[in-house]
Amino acid sequence: MTYAKIMATGSYLPPKILTNSELATMVDTSDEWITQRTGIQQRHIVEDDDVVSMGVKAAQQALQRANLEPQQIQMIIVATCTAPKTFPSAACLIQAALGIEFAPAFDIQAACSGFIYAMTCATKYIETNFVDNILVIGSEAMSKVVDWQDRSTCVLFGDGAGAIVLSKSASPGVISSKMFADGKNKDILYLNNALMSSDKLLRMEGRTVFKLAVKRLADVIQHELKDNNLTAADIDWVVPHQANLRILDSTARAINLDANKIIVTVDKHANTSGASIPLALDAGVSDGRIQRGQNLIFEAFGGGLTWGSALVRY
Ligand code: ACO
Repeated sequence: MTYAKIMATGSYLPPKILTNSELATMVDTSDEWITQRTGIQQRHIVEDDDVVSMGVKAAQQALQRANLEPQQIQMIIVATCTAPKTFPSAACLIQAALGIEFAPAFDIQAACSGFIYAMTCATKYIETNFVDNILVIGSEAMSKVVDWQDRSTCVLFGDGAGAIVLSKSASPGVISSKMFADGKNKDILYLNNALMSSDKLLRMEGRTVFKLAVKRLADVIQHELKDNNLTAADIDWVVPHQANLRILDSTARAINLDANKIIVTVDKHANTSGASIPLALDAGVSDGRIQRGQNLIFEAFGGGLTWGSALVRY
């Protein structure tokens, strides 16, 4: 059996930090409201960077840690909903910047679930022996698409990029994953194409999204565990999409999971959409909490609606 294994991780956060107190001078909000309702204390904001430059830096770190030359990468998949161009895709621009000749490169757009979709797709290409080494990147510049006049959304998002090198392996690996979508809920969380609409900014009915997120995430994790004959006690770390600390805690409670097993970065990064899982994974790997051989659950929920999960042996 051929498995897809995470060989290395990398990440990049733009240097400018915007704290809750600074935000409170821009819109009618407070550090107390944001911290209590979301757990967010600060977010990184692009100045000179964009999705491509951040993705390149995260990928370079992952490549270096995997001991691979760029030319050994045979495919690049980027999860993003804030690419600077519709085409060339961010993945093509990252491919050129890394000097990787001719490797197929494409973006996947599934909002906050983008990384689960991208990693699942990459896993299938490896398991079917199509290629051996794939760069999977999540990179987002959410600060470019939020409405900085709307306090109910602008306080929630941040910018950054994370990357993994996924490679062919004789041992697992990405053990299983799940992806779902429900286009009926298109009006509670959306970002119009800027060329096709006068409303160019992200819109969200936060409370409705919150309730659906907790239900869908609890369901998908329970199914992921059951399908693999595991219980929450068998999981070493949950590496979730980081939208709101309350969503993380409520989901953990719903599946009887110890909240101390959640890698939390939402306090420092806010919601970086498709970048949040690889950013959290790299944080857990870099500080030594996540160790080789451990069982990880990735989970995400976002615009589409889309949601999904993955069981990973690191
Ligand atoms: N500062 C102060 N007050 C605020 C702010 C703010 N930044 N934002 C909203 N309020 C007010 C509202 O106006 C409301 O006031 P009212 O009671 O006088 O009407 C009150 O606070 C409560 O507002 P709610 O929206 O009901 O607050 P809630 O407790 O639901 O928290 C939040 C809002 C944080 C947005 C939460 O609903 C949430 O996290 N939702 C899910 C987000 C998410 O998971 N997104 C998915 C991924 S995003 C993607 O895919 C791109």
